[in-house]
Amino acid sequence: MSAPRRVPTLVLGGSGYVAGELLRLVAGHPHLALAAAVSDSKPGERIAAAFPHLAPAYPDATFVDADAAVRVVAEAADSAVLAAAPHGVSAALLDRLLGAADAAGTRPRVVDISADFRFADPAAYARVYGHTHGAPARLRQFTCALPEHLAVLPTPHVAHPGCFATAMLLALVPLLKLGLVEPVFYVSAVTGSTGSGRSPVDGTHHPRRHSDLHAYNPLGHRHAPEVLAVAEALTGRRAELQFVPHSGPFARGIHATIQARLARPVPAAEVREALAAFYAGQPFVRVLAEPPRLKDVVTSNYAQLSATTSGSSLAVMSVIDNLTKGAAGGAVQWLNRMLGLDPATGLTAPAPGWT
Ligand SMILES: NC(=O)c1ccc[n+]([C@@H]2O[C@H](COP(=O)([O-])OP(=O)(O)OC[C@H]3O[C@@H](n4cnc5c(N)ncnc54)[C@H](OP(=O)(O)O)[C@@H]3O)[C@@H](O)[C@H]2O)c1
Repeated sequence: MSAPRRVPTLVLGGSGYVAGELLRLVAGHPHLALAAAVSDSKPGERIAAAFPHLAPAYPDATFVDADAAVRVVAEAADSAVLAAAPHGVSAALLDRLLGAADAAGTRPRVVDISADFRFADPAAYARVYGHTHGAPARLRQFTCALPEHLAVLPTPHVAHPGCFATAMLLALVPLLKLGLVEPVFYVSAVTGSTGSGRSPVDGTHHPRRHSDLHAYNPLGHRHAPEVLAVAEALTGRRAELQFVPHSGPFARGIHATIQARLARPVPAAEVREALAAFYAGQPFVRVLAEPPRLKDVVTSNYAQLSATTSGSSLAVMSVIDNLTKGAAGGAVQWLNRMLGLDPATGLTAPAPGWT
């Protein structure tokens, strides 16, 4: 399909951190035009009031309510929906938009960044999130994967796997597919404070979070079963994941260390070469000889991996920006593909290096 010059684009999740990053990326994208930024709490308020850093791109634009979004998807023959509402909210909102599009005969493309369409099975969702799924009949319209891992998208819409999951899956999927490891992973990963979203709570307050490091939900984080489900769907291999997430004293970025037992002893350089070959031609994944550093990817859509071995032990280090590659940028990367554009369109700015 040849892409229209500028596709009307809706951003859901209003004044949240991921929505802000989506709005920033849409503003710099040559083939997307913001048609609606949907806010639950701030319809009618200026986008620039919620995101002062976006004032140059949106000096006068205001948030709209969900009714206005329904009108856009019903009226535009082709539109794009980048959804960053909370899990539990997204399913019902997207169901409403897609229902309006079905009735009008229009074709919005949706990338949902929440957890609502990551599991194919509504029972698995209910087990992990503790409530019934808001739109189970829509699940079959979504595929959950990273764009690097799926050559052909089998559904009209996409569920982004999420930020911790991006950092992990970039290592897990090739390691499983290439048969390099036994399927048991031990992951320790550190995220910046934007991973917790915009609403302040005691544990994310600056005096507590600044200059500190601590684990949370060790071996019990809800993203572990999502990662395993995606990895199994993509590789056909059932794996085990022992995941210990940490809160780090920085705003953006995820550093994950993924450890596993090698299927046979392999020199580190050989693992790195295998990873590099797996991601050959992928513009956003780089495999380094040295351990990667957060500052080389933060605020960009790039991911960096490295690997080392000792006997039968393997450690892969993986770094991404949680809001860009782990959410908004990864979603735009998918959307580019869904619109028939070069997947890198609007996403190639390198990290600033010093943030
Ligand atoms: N932060 C990350 O690093 C990250 C990475 C990957 C995925 N995600 C996922 O992306 C989504 C957004 O994350 P975020 O970090 O941007 O969260 P956030 O900062 O808390 O923003 C979520 C926004 O959703 C909007 N919203 C709409 N309906 C709502 C309702 N009924 N209740 C509460 N808020 C409502 C709110 O803005 P309005 O009131 O203006 O509508 C809110 O600010 C979540 O599903 C999250 O799991 C986040």
